Amino acid sequence: MIFFRRPPEPEYSARKVVSMSSKTRFACRDCGYTSSRWLGRCPDCGEWNAMVEEVAARSGQNRGGDYSPAACPISRVSVVEEDRFATGIQELDRVLGGGVVPGSLVLLGGDPGIGKSTLLMQMASRLSGSGKKVLYVSGEESVQQVKMRASRLKVEEGPLYLLAETDIDRVEKNIISVAPDLVIIDSIQAVAKPDLPSAPGGVSQVRECSSQMMRLAKTRAVSIFLVGHVTKEGALAGPKVLEHIVDTVIYFEGERHHSFRVLRSAKNRFGSTNEIGVFQMEGDGLKEVFNPSELFVINRSRGDVAGSVVVSTIEGNRPLLVEIQALVCPTGFGTPRRMTAGVDYNRVSLILAVLEKRVGLHLGGQDAYVNAVGGVRLDDPAADLGIALALASSFKEIPVHAGLVAVGEIGLTGEIRPVPQLEKRIQEAARLGFSMCMVPQRSGRCAALGEMRVLGLETLPEAIEAALAF
Ligand code: TYD
Ligand code: MG
Repeated sequence: MIFFRRPPEPEYSARKVVSMSSKTRFACRDCGYTSSRWLGRCPDCGEWNAMVEEVAARSGQNRGGDYSPAACPISRVSVVEEDRFATGIQELDRVLGGGVVPGSLVLLGGDPGIGKSTLLMQMASRLSGSGKKVLYVSGEESVQQVKMRASRLKVEEGPLYLLAETDIDRVEKNIISVAPDLVIIDSIQAVAKPDLPSAPGGVSQVRECSSQMMRLAKTRAVSIFLVGHVTKEGALAGPKVLEHIVDTVIYFEGERHHSFRVLRSAKNRFGSTNEIGVFQMEGDGLKEVFNPSELFVINRSRGDVAGSVVVSTIEGNRPLLVEIQALVCPTGFGTPRRMTAGVDYNRVSLILAVLEKRVGLHLGGQDAYVNAVGGVRLDDPAADLGIALALASSFKEIPVHAGLVAVGEIGLTGEIRPVPQLEKRIQEAARLGFSMCMVPQRSGRCAALGEMRVLGLETLPEAIEAALAF
């Protein structure tokens, strides 16, 4: 039985009052779908109780008025090379596709406390230090608080303006009067347009405010960075349409208790989304990490411990060596526990099933814990082989060779599947002094690379036998 929840009565009366002057409608908080009636479930994205009331914008004026054809052949379109400016933070420039494009609107999303305000303040400092005019608008902190953070970050001397304001119209006036090269709005959920009846952070507020900033960015050629909060599910709070409005969406992620942070772009109208930026949070702000692999494997205990294997993954376009640790031990009671950190839970379940069925390891009565060391999150399926070897090594209490790096995706039949950019992965392992690399046989090229021994393997049982025999 499905119960449709009705909105409380007072909203009806409020609606009647508003509807005399302008039309109201209901919009889905998640996907932005609009309907003239309230619905219990959004027909577009299927989310329950997500429709909220909002005042509809007046319908477009002058539609179909003085129309002049504007289509032209592609060969006649002249291209002006957009002159980007560098932020001075190389890792950020790379993610943005080579610097900030004047007149672009960039959205930076991330969990609370991950370092969004810190990153943008450091960017503001570098830019103003190089002579660019920057306006930092904070809707969440007072100018004193922002100043305190800025002095902790040792902000460079330059034209950096601060404003604590939540009214988007007043923010706009300040942007027009200060005329900066770059504006930072921290955060889009904290600012609001006073004429709209809904609260800050609501669908219509977020959409209206960001559209207003988009118009301003395009007409005044000022680049605007918006900070966006992330919901529990990891999506940007506010309507999906926000991501459609802006030019670039970048996410700042990492484990809160680790200092390691990754900046990824999810959408970029001015560059590729394949690049990542790596940072480390320290006492005086974020430091760029140019050789992330070193960070992860340099502190690795070189003693032979069962359950530890290094994998060579590709994050964005860069190879990254990460240590995988696994612990397999008999279940105390009931159903075995499986826990993962930094690797996908379902992927590990699949690997456990393959180990059980294709390799014959009896893991049914065993708890299994898998961890990617250092607080990274690995999405690359090429880490599969390393996870499987770490699990098998812990189960059998036999350490794998400390100089070994594993690369390969595991299929359901226990085969080791080829992975892209193998050469890059092997080179990175060689650079960091590893002596042996297990790779999928079917990748073709399995010859030795300098000092590195490259071992091509066809199936998982073969790989486990080889890895545990050293
Ligand atoms: P912050 O940039 O305020 O996060 P966000 O804007 O994403 O919510 O920074 C969050 C954390 O970073 C804060 O808990 C303290 C830590 N931090 C440092 O470790 N070093 C520093 O120099 C700064 C400024 C912050
Ligand atoms: Mg903040």
